[in-house]
Amino acid sequence: MPPAIARSVASLRSLVAGWRAAGERVALVPTMGALHRGHITLVEAVRQHCRRVVVSIFVNPLQFAPGSDFNRYPRSFETDCRQVDAAGGDAVFAPSVEEMYPAGFATEVRVAGLTETLCGPFRPGHFDGVATVVAKLFIQCGCDLAAFGEKDYQQLQVVRRMATDLDLPLTILGVPTVREPDGLALSSRNAYLSPAERAIAPRLYAIMQQAAAALEAGATAAGAEAMARKALKDAGFNPVEYVELVDAESLARLDRLRGQARLAVAAWLGQTRLIDNIPVPSAR
Ligand code: PAJ
Repeated sequence: MPPAIARSVASLRSLVAGWRAAGERVALVPTMGALHRGHITLVEAVRQHCRRVVVSIFVNPLQFAPGSDFNRYPRSFETDCRQVDAAGGDAVFAPSVEEMYPAGFATEVRVAGLTETLCGPFRPGHFDGVATVVAKLFIQCGCDLAAFGEKDYQQLQVVRRMATDLDLPLTILGVPTVREPDGLALSSRNAYLSPAERAIAPRLYAIMQQAAAALEAGATAAGAEAMARKALKDAGFNPVEYVELVDAESLARLDRLRGQARLAVAAWLGQTRLIDNIPVPSAR
């Protein structure tokens, strides 16, 4: 059966209530659409745990800065629904902006600390927008489980903190980053890259791997970060916003490899901002 399409919170709730009455567990995969294999991997991951899967598709204006790519963000609803169908999803929740944020909407969810590092200073308000919409989606759906990609590692940690702090009764599943064969992390924003930029983009992952190898061989974080910054500039990334070695849980900056760490990068290629991160030591 093709996935049911819910446009309102009320219709989502009635679908979920029917499943719950039948004793079925429900998972949610929040997305902004323009679905690719990364998103579909999240659907497949939650299907291992829950009989029912809802994919939300909502380009959330709250998490875009004024003048950023909200208006040109890729939208492909029909194709997205076909992909959710092929992956075995049961419902697509696609509310309008008015349904999500009716006139008078005035509440914000803000996670302190974790949102103040890495992307935080470069995208003021972004994680407040994410935390607010994700909290709403969790409450609207009443899901048992929700999956997020490690591709957006800081987002994953922010969502985990928010769900814990608000006592939301669900499990958060983190899913490893899905990459192209050349190493580029799949992203809806890769569609913005020109062919020349697309040819350069995989250097990001290659350079991160070199920096991780240096860290594993004993380099300081400052040394590895400086090496990666220079290599990124030489490859054509400009500006390089950050290259940082952080603790995998707290996202606190590390001065050398210690425990479970993550090497995270944000850099621009032309008009496109790319982010990526890898575990260090690498998961073998
Ligand atoms: P979006 O960018 O559409 O991503 C939806 C989910 O897919 C996120 O959890 C993201 O980390 C995951 N994802 C994207 N690319 C991936 C890849 N290559 N491998 C694995 N997972 C990947 O992230 C958002 O939307 C929004 O901020 C959202 C959470 C929906 C809130 O609006």
